[in-house]
Amino acid sequence: AGLRSPPSQAVSPMQSVGRKLTILYGTETGNAAELARALETAAKGKGLSCNHSDMADYKVRQLAQEEDVLIIVSTYGEGDPPQPATGFFEFVEGRKAPKLEGKRFAVLALGDSTYEFYCEAGKRLDRRFEELGGERLAPRVDCDIDYEEAAEAWTRAIIEQIGAEAKLATVPAVAVSSPAASTVVHDKRNPFPAPVIDNIAIVGRGSTKETRHIEFSLEGSGLAYEPGDALGLAASNDPAVVAALIDMLALQPDAEFEHKGQTVRLDDALTHRFEITTATPRFLDYWALLSEADALKQLLQDDRSGDRSVFLHTHHIIDIIRRFPVTDVMPQGFVSALRPLQPRLYSLASSLAATPDEAHLTVAPVRYDLHGEPRCGVATGLLADRAEPDTVLPVYIQSNPHFRLPGDDAPIIMIGAGTGVAPYRAFLQEREVRGAGGKSWLFFGERNFRTDFLYQTEWQGWLKDGTLGRMDVAFSRDGNDKVYVQHRMKEQSRDIFAWLEEGAHVYVCGDATNLAPDVHEALIDIVVSEARTGREAAEDYVRSLQSDHRYQRDVY
Ligand code: 2AM
Repeated sequence: AGLRSPPSQAVSPMQSVGRKLTILYGTETGNAAELARALETAAKGKGLSCNHSDMADYKVRQLAQEEDVLIIVSTYGEGDPPQPATGFFEFVEGRKAPKLEGKRFAVLALGDSTYEFYCEAGKRLDRRFEELGGERLAPRVDCDIDYEEAAEAWTRAIIEQIGAEAKLATVPAVAVSSPAASTVVHDKRNPFPAPVIDNIAIVGRGSTKETRHIEFSLEGSGLAYEPGDALGLAASNDPAVVAALIDMLALQPDAEFEHKGQTVRLDDALTHRFEITTATPRFLDYWALLSEADALKQLLQDDRSGDRSVFLHTHHIIDIIRRFPVTDVMPQGFVSALRPLQPRLYSLASSLAATPDEAHLTVAPVRYDLHGEPRCGVATGLLADRAEPDTVLPVYIQSNPHFRLPGDDAPIIMIGAGTGVAPYRAFLQEREVRGAGGKSWLFFGERNFRTDFLYQTEWQGWLKDGTLGRMDVAFSRDGNDKVYVQHRMKEQSRDIFAWLEEGAHVYVCGDATNLAPDVHEALIDIVVSEARTGREAAEDYVRSLQSDHRYQRDVY
């Protein structure tokens, strides 16, 4: 008698099988969140029991109850986790972390290889989960800024492995990109060509700044957003910089070559696909290989000395080519040393409820001189110099769940300097339309009262009709002493603390390097003085504001 076939293992897709799968993601700009959703969709498609959670919302004690944990996390600054995931990291890396024996894990780390601490946040969790006794399901994968392909491969491999264990059929290709719907979905990979409606300077004559207000039409795009979200701009390089670069390389603009299975023209590729201004270590290595210049090779030999990073900060790609000329550069080789052009994010300054089908931005172009030549940021230059009304630019919405208005009745304290005031315009537009009753308070900082009081008449209108309850301004360059928003906050310590005690939500938007840490310190100081408590208790107080999502930041 022949062998009887085993009973069918087939499961209906609705029925969950296998070990419980938990996806945890840590994100600031939304990429890890998007990958987590794609991973969950793929897992559920295989009938696996799966759910995903933002590290910011995850109840860390739950970790002891998990079975398989899949982690997707990006890295910022000096190897730091995304701001909203800070609490999760503190718990996992701290003494109270549970043993993870019998649990399995895998890490997908997102990062930017031009930074020293590449994918460090992912590496930290990968190390720590092993230390705690977890078993690695699959080796960690580190992805650079063009993460899509590597992330897709990781997702597919993981699901295939877990799916196979659950004795399931092999997985169909996993699309990390959004599923093709019958209507066109506009997202990062397929941005919407949005016409510019208006583009005006909003600083007065004689300002030391050049801040602009730019309006796009989203009509017909199907795009929607909430106050706090950002607009992604698929920027392109300045044609004049592209031409200068091609000229200096002694190449032809219409030179054609193969790139990712497509034939591309050099001028198109340099305009739309690659970063061509800031130099990276990779570019420097490539150029040193081609160059005969000893000075350049010397620079690379002792890269610990810091000379190299100083050099990279003071030399754009074009400056390196000019200083160390090379002949016979091949277009394909050249672009292989460049990194892909990344879209730029801008906090939306409008509310859809108040301005249907429109998206407003507040943008301050980045301009400076380098080697005696004026330079300009890629995307801010595009927005300031090449985006007059009727120009069409590719945009998409990047949702930001970590910068959200609370319920209509909750008090809000909004702190921002410069273009960091943008989302508060969106907040107040929204609250006005909704007739929200919650109290609101704006702290705004800029250089000079006379020229830089961004959206002055709008705030005044809202103060008058009650949409905005209070406003304190700090103009840093009007007097002899610097006055910043955190100084105004400290002047109002008593009321700020009273608002916090009433359940106020605090928002900080603007500069990440100085403003955000200084405002953070100010908040702690306010709690110390008003609650008459020690510093540690005040830090705990502020930390719990953060974990309750009552203290949210959008800093850059
Ligand atoms: P400054 O340029 O005069 O020093 C917007 O850029 C505003 O933020 C300006 O008034 C700027 O002041 C101010 N600013 C600079 N550093 C700051 C900090 N650490 N905290 C708060 N505001 C700051």
